[in-house]
Amino acid sequence: MCGIVAYIGPKDATTFLLEGLQRLEYRGYDSAGVAVAGKAGTLKVCKVKGRVADLAAAVPANFFSKQRGKGSTGIGHTRWATHGVPSDANAHPHTDTSGRIAVVHNGIIENADELRARLLADGAVFTSETDTEVLGHLIAAHAVEGTELEDAVRAALGHVVGTYGIAVLDAAQPDRIVVARNGSPIVLGLGEKEMFVASDVAALVRYTRQVVHLEDGELATVRADGFRTFTEDARTVTRQPSTVDWEIASYDTAGYEHFLLKEIHEQPAAVERTLSGRLDERFATAHLGGLNLDARELREIRRVKILGCGSAYYAGEMGAQLIEELARIPAHSEPASEFRYRNPVIEADTLYVAVSQSGETYDTLAAVQEIKRKGGRVLGVVNTVGSAIARECDGGIYLHAGPEISVASTKAFTSTVIAFALLALHFGRINDLSPADGRRIVAGLKALPGQIREVLGQEAEIAKLAAEYAGSAGMMFIGRVRGYPVAREGAQKLKEISYVHAEAYPASELKHGPLALISPELPTVALVPDDELLDKNLTTLGEIKARSGRVLAIGHRAPEAKLADHAILVPKSEPELDPLLLNIPLQLLAYYAAVALERDVDKPRNLAKSVTVE
Ligand code: AGP
Repeated sequence: MCGIVAYIGPKDATTFLLEGLQRLEYRGYDSAGVAVAGKAGTLKVCKVKGRVADLAAAVPANFFSKQRGKGSTGIGHTRWATHGVPSDANAHPHTDTSGRIAVVHNGIIENADELRARLLADGAVFTSETDTEVLGHLIAAHAVEGTELEDAVRAALGHVVGTYGIAVLDAAQPDRIVVARNGSPIVLGLGEKEMFVASDVAALVRYTRQVVHLEDGELATVRADGFRTFTEDARTVTRQPSTVDWEIASYDTAGYEHFLLKEIHEQPAAVERTLSGRLDERFATAHLGGLNLDARELREIRRVKILGCGSAYYAGEMGAQLIEELARIPAHSEPASEFRYRNPVIEADTLYVAVSQSGETYDTLAAVQEIKRKGGRVLGVVNTVGSAIARECDGGIYLHAGPEISVASTKAFTSTVIAFALLALHFGRINDLSPADGRRIVAGLKALPGQIREVLGQEAEIAKLAAEYAGSAGMMFIGRVRGYPVAREGAQKLKEISYVHAEAYPASELKHGPLALISPELPTVALVPDDELLDKNLTTLGEIKARSGRVLAIGHRAPEAKLADHAILVPKSEPELDPLLLNIPLQLLAYYAAVALERDVDKPRNLAKSVTVE
């Protein structure tokens, strides 16, 4: 999804802009561009369809940065097309007719057509099909002689309906960049006599750890020696910087071929961090300081509703099962993208839980805002500290999984399920979960990092199987009850990175329709844990084999040869925690299938890491 960077200070702005844009490549994009303020009230813009490397090659040798002698000011962008095809003309930055104002924008301007018509009537000349271009013209229309850039931006935004994170450069006022946020993140990075701006801290951590997250409805004037934040009605607000604790090394592949493989291997350490300081062996429970709910308030909760998108929704399904099983509270997970549009009934005794790795997914944020508007209580299960969803929630659990760069979620998915296991344990022990069962879950959780390492030890064999199955036209994933969300996540991972069609079904539903699809051309990945449903699952495998289907079983014991063609075995955990371990081979399966098919593993086509638009 789109990315923003900006720099003001004594160094060469273009160098930072290109490096920063490179750090944002993982979010997914189709074009990139930069604008730098130069001598005598001029701006230079360079933008191309393609990669940041193409942009770097296109920046002319005389593309000034330090010509003013006192330093330089610039803004940059990676675009993920919404209005208009990917092209040089539609790439950001966009300028006004005179070329004085340049804007980069993430989000969607909903009344762009109406604004464009008005601006055209006033003589503006448009050069792109984007909604963003109206911003450049609109700001220019307000930037009359003697107007401060921040006032022109504020006045222009007063006419805008939609979502935005923007950075604005004015050739006539190169001593500042003005930024604004409404529904799309903007982070300021504080340096020594220099300031950075980005839509994602990934672009900043090489330069500074001190950051300020803008809130929705806020703007900032950023100068080399500091910043001022204020509201749309010009009230100054004070924002204290916070420190980013993610390691710079997390933004490197560290010798792995892809970020995805690195992140799969980081899971034992990520799980240790999610668990760290949260297990209480004495009372066989979990401590979750950020919930902001005491035991009495928790006992009054009658229902749990979990909301997230994509893999966050599937992790929520695993979370719902854990909560129902351990706390005996009805729990259900729903796509936040659906929930927000169906005028949901919000109940006072329901606990709402929003799940998001990035903390910026617009559908999930909108769902949280709708619940809060109706008086509901929302907890966040979020990886990114200080993100919009984290800030909007009443309390929650941070994952501490570390930054996840690859578009496909792996370690954040696993850490999310761990966070739900902790919540379910805490909740359960406040309700009727026995101390013995509490101890069983605590021990199970503690063993998980080592058990994940054991599964990862089978990487070479899983890679061989993946290459064998990768040629299939499609794959079926099945699981029963606890296994069903695992099947859904497994299918999601395979399709998003290998582009192999994959369908997930509850194993119990096979004979109600999808059994008709079974043939040697459509292999089935079956989750077959050694639990109370083992016999039922083995019967289903028999039904598939009777129709000449190929079966790859994932479980704790290899089924007889007549029931499965291949098996991947994982260590046994507690039944409630088994899904976590069953999911790990599916990540490797998807990864190696994508490698065998020579896909762009970390940046699959059409997808973005954070979906910050509707
Ligand atoms: C995961 O592999 C996907 N790329 C996607 O489904 C993702 O989980 C979803 O877009 C939600 O993202 P979030 O966790 O950052 O909110």
